Amino acid sequence: MKICCPHCGKEYTVKRETLRNRSSTVTIPCPNCQEKILLHPSLAAGAGETDRTSGHGRQSKGNALMTGDALKQRIFKTLKDLPPMPQVVQKARKVLADPNSSFSDLAKVIESDQGIVTRVLKMANSPYYGLSGNVSSVKHASIVLGTKTLMELLDLACSSEILGQTLEGYDLAAGDLWMHSLAVANGSQLIARRVNPSLELDAFSAGLIHDVGKIILDPYILERKAKFRSFASQRRDTFLAAEKDILGFDHAELASEVCERWQIPRHIVMAIRYHHDPAPSGKDMLSHIVHLADAAAIMSGIGAGIDGMLYAINNDAMGLLRLKEDDLFDIMGQIACYVEKTTQQA
Ligand SMILES: [Fe+2]
Ligand SMILES: [Fe+2]
Repeated sequence: MKICCPHCGKEYTVKRETLRNRSSTVTIPCPNCQEKILLHPSLAAGAGETDRTSGHGRQSKGNALMTGDALKQRIFKTLKDLPPMPQVVQKARKVLADPNSSFSDLAKVIESDQGIVTRVLKMANSPYYGLSGNVSSVKHASIVLGTKTLMELLDLACSSEILGQTLEGYDLAAGDLWMHSLAVANGSQLIARRVNPSLELDAFSAGLIHDVGKIILDPYILERKAKFRSFASQRRDTFLAAEKDILGFDHAELASEVCERWQIPRHIVMAIRYHHDPAPSGKDMLSHIVHLADAAAIMSGIGAGIDGMLYAINNDAMGLLRLKEDDLFDIMGQIACYVEKTTQQA
């Protein structure tokens, strides 16, 4: 099977046997850039429903058809296979919320994890952040870029591995979900900057992880691919509707429950929960922002996979955020540029 390093973009062929009989994520070093690549056991799928090992533990034929709460409970029990958001992000958020903290306090927290330091510096030196090759330490990056941008880079560094995976169930090649997530993070940030600048950082974080539920659900979608295909051929409805119909819940609902367990702040969890349909959130601004950014990324054709074929845009979101059609086109142009520049090597 083909895999693509989420850090340098190099493609490799890995034997499926590497993942056979594994119950948890396998880590291999990228032969090109030496960064860690996480291989989810679900990548080994393809042997058929009865003997495949999913990313959430070995499933029997009977379990493969579980739905609703039973399936959800099973997923929660086996979530240990999915790396949670690193502790360093939670600690950094606390430092940032403290008005007495300094540049060096945030740098110290980040420097406690060397793997993350390498990735933060790589992103800081990407053409988008404009410091090509000139930033050599986290402290230096915090002074040149400011703490908000450094927090943004930390979010990116911590999620690149998990979001870079291939999702066969969703028809997403390696790197597709990563690019989509980058686009929604940047789009959410740009919208927040126009309507409520105090939400900028949270909008970026929420946009970045809004589709994390797809990573969790992918093995279960893959097992039921035939059902999803027949749903799509019989009904003109969204992929989200197919998830609800076939699994009993969708990736947004599942992700919000998982993010609560990861102790992600509640307002970010809410935006993840309602990113496909912000109406039930009331007039929650962050939910509407992430929804429109998601729509902008999908309309731009950035990493949507099977989920982007039909997408229901909430009619009231533009009005609530006081955005015009031209604003959305402008955002679409900017996110395409952001994705291109952040994924380029310095
Ligand atoms: Fe989604
Ligand atoms: Fe999305």
